[in-house]
Formats: sequence, C-alpha cells, structure tokens
Amino acid sequence: MTTLDSTVDYDVLIPNNVALASDARVRRGLERWHPGYIDWWMDMGPDGFQTSDVYLRTAVRVESKGADKWAVFDYVKMPDYRWGILLAPQAEDRKIPFGRHVGEPAWHEVPGEYRAMLRRLIVIQGDTEPASVEQQRFLGKTAPSLYDMRNLFQVNVEEGRHLWAMVYLLQKYFGRDGREEAAELLRRRSGSDDAPRMLGAFNEETPDWLSFFLFTFFTDRDGKMQLESLAQSGFDPLSRTCRFMLTEEAFHMFVGESGVTRIVQRTCEAMREAGIDDPTEIEAVRALGVIDLPTIQKKMNLHYSLTLDLFGSELSTNSANFFNAGLKGRFREHRLEDDHRLLEDTYGIPEPANGAAGSNGGWHIVQHPALNALNARLRDDFTTDCNLGVGRWNKAISQTGFDFAITLPHVAFHRQIGVYRDLHATPAGEIVSEDAWNARRGEWLPDDSDRAFIESLMEPEFRPGHYASWIAEPRIRINHKPGDFEWVKLAEA
Ligand SMILES: [Fe+2]
Ligand SMILES: [Fe+2]
Repeated sequence: MTTLDSTVDYDVLIPNNVALASDARVRRGLERWHPGYIDWWMDMGPDGFQTSDVYLRTAVRVESKGADKWAVFDYVKMPDYRWGILLAPQAEDRKIPFGRHVGEPAWHEVPGEYRAMLRRLIVIQGDTEPASVEQQRFLGKTAPSLYDMRNLFQVNVEEGRHLWAMVYLLQKYFGRDGREEAAELLRRRSGSDDAPRMLGAFNEETPDWLSFFLFTFFTDRDGKMQLESLAQSGFDPLSRTCRFMLTEEAFHMFVGESGVTRIVQRTCEAMREAGIDDPTEIEAVRALGVIDLPTIQKKMNLHYSLTLDLFGSELSTNSANFFNAGLKGRFREHRLEDDHRLLEDTYGIPEPANGAAGSNGGWHIVQHPALNALNARLRDDFTTDCNLGVGRWNKAISQTGFDFAITLPHVAFHRQIGVYRDLHATPAGEIVSEDAWNARRGEWLPDDSDRAFIESLMEPEFRPGHYASWIAEPRIRINHKPGDFEWVKLAEA
C-alpha cells in the first residue's frame, strides 16, 4: 500500500530545487519510479515500524538562512517522509578543478565521451544508499533506546533520499539507460545470491547495534570520502548533488562515533563500579552486561578492514581515468596545492619488503604514478579521518583511568581486494603464513562466541528516557529535546 497519491501534484510532495514543475519529462520518469520505490521501502525498509510516528529531520532547503534552517523536525510516519531532490546552489563560473580539462568551464550536460564512465560512478554510489537500509532493517526491534531507534530511522530515510538524488541524475541526464539503471537500483538486494548489491561491504550483515555504530562510523565515512571526491566533479549537477548529501552525511557519522563512545563509556563505568582494573578480564566484564573493550576492538578490526576494501584496488587505471576525465577528484581537491593533473607525480604505498609470507622483512614505501594510486590516497585520507574519532574513544577510556587503547589495524590486515589481498598480515602488520593467520583469527576478529554474547545483549529498551545496560545515555540530544522525550511513538501492535 502506498500512502502517497501519485495523482497529487508531485511538486507538493517532493521538495525540490530543480524546477521539477517545469520539467515534465523528468517529473514523469520519477512519478513512474516512485511506486516501486515505496514498494521497496515497505518491503526492505525498517521492519515493524512503518506506522510509528518518528521525530525526523527533513531537508526543506539547501542552506540555512537566518531563522530558516535547512531542515525541519517533526513526527512523521516513515513511508510519508518527503524524500526531496536538493542540489547545493550552483557556483557561478565554476571551473573543472582537475584532470586534463582543468580550468575549463564545468559541464552542465553530460560530456558524450564520458557518458558511460559518469553513469557508472553514479550507479555505484546510488547502489550503496538502499543497500545500507536493507542491511539495517531489523535493528529497530532491538534498539537500546527510542533515541537510538530514532537516529537509526533518520539515517535510513536519508539514505533513501540519497537514492532519490542519484536516481534524479540518472533520469535527468541519461535517458532510457538512466531509467533502466534506476529500476535496477530497486531490484538488487543486499546479500542476495542472484542480484546482490555491487560492493562487498554492502552485502554483509549488520546484525547488532555495535555493528550499526561501527558501520555508520566506518562505512558511512567511506561514503563521505566518495561524496567529497564526487563533489569535486567537473559534471556540475553531480558536484551539487554530492555537496548537499554531505550536509546530511555528517549526522550519520555523528551517530556512529557517539554511539561507540557511549558504549565505551558505559563499559568503563561498569568496570570501575565493579572494581575491575584489567579491561582484558573478558568474562568478568561481560558478566556486568556490558561489551568488553577487546571485543569492541575485534569488531572494529572487522568493519575497518571491510570498509578499506570499498576504496577498490590501491592501484587502479579506472580511478586514473575518472580523474583525467575530470569526473572524480581527490578528497577536497580544491584545498590541495599542486597542478591538479598529477602527470609527473608519485604516491607511496607500503609494500612488504621482500614479499613472501613469513619473510617479515618489514614494510617499505614503493612509489607509484600518482594517477594510478588515487584509491590508495583516498583510503589514506579516510584512515586519517577515522583516527580522529578513534582518538576520542581512547580519551573516553583514559578519562576513566583505564590503560587500554583502541587502534586501527594495519592497512594490509584482512583484505580481500587490492595489493594486500594475498597476504596474511596481523593487525600489527606482521606477515605470517596462512595457517598461522587462521590459527589466530579469533584473537583479531569476532568469533561465534563473541557474536552470541553481543546478540544476548540486544534486548529492546523502548521506555522513554531509558537505555540498555551496555550503552550510556547521550550527553547531547538531537534538537535539544529533554531526556524523557518520546523520539518514536510506537504504533500499537
Ligand atoms: Fe548516503
Ligand atoms: Fe550515510
């Protein structure tokens, strides 16, 4: 059942700043796509909460101006959410910022020679948006609070809007094959055998809330890095689309970072209250109903390494082509000071000093043509960004007086894609034999007993103002609401 009537003026339902009212072809295309989207949302969106009233943020303009904020907050049933099409304002006289066309006027139509490449970039980005909604669809049922449930649903509806954003570009600029791609985006399913999502990490499960927070911390941050690179694009509609998506994306990473911080805080508080000095006394800590720090480290090793694979192979001619063509730049290209062509430049990638497993000759930096190493560079920028958050988690630990540090594993650890794929590296970056690696796997990555323990904690806490045993109450709440605010008004079952 759709709750939106497609005979109603679509412009009233879909906030947009792209003059949909006067663009009959695109409006009709979106109108035809819309029922399938709602079907997908009812089918694959948050399970069991579609008729609940959720206190959600909706984007209503692309910039805050004085008292007029870019988003409004109100109770909404998720299927009635106003998924809008919003592009950041067009910058006057914008120039292509990099590649072989650097300095030429930005494109407002798709350059014919780059059509296929551009479509592929948009489809890959678009595919990740619904995938994460699918991965997270059962989490509402085990939410540790209504506050966290609301944040989950906020992330979900915004990923839905990001799908709309990409579908708009496909329908507006790519004609019939754009419409076919838009239909395919609704057909693929995370984890499906016959029609999986395009990228590996988007076919993994998000079975528990620690996974969710780590997913939003790491995997949404990959999204941020990709959007930052696409926001540099010489194809101006893509740039403007991604710039506005980044406004929303910041909240997703806030959810992840603050979620993990609150888990770490709660664990440390509980250890202190119980007089446990050693955070590695796993059974004693777990008996307190909190998640021990070594298990958080293992879960982090998993999510970080899965996310690194999303950057693609460290050495890639595709990414060189995207850059040369002016379609996908570097992270914050506009702040970098060089010729933005990179024809003579190199970029260093750590490689094992003498290659073979068991050699342990350490790592040395091998220089490669910078154009071929753009994925490695973006991945390094990602790691730098991650470390800021990890530092804040560690501060939460040290402030409570415990001697334990969470650390990102070595870039070669547990990789399935790229130059490290065939190596067996420990989190510390030591290369070991496959047998030795497998024998120690359970020290580094969650095993069945870790998963079972975390699952045992995933009991719903739906009373306003209450939080599950394993997570601290947030210090800052959305839109300054009081502690007992009813973030989600649950529908009667
Ligand atoms: Fe997104
Ligand atoms: Fe996101």
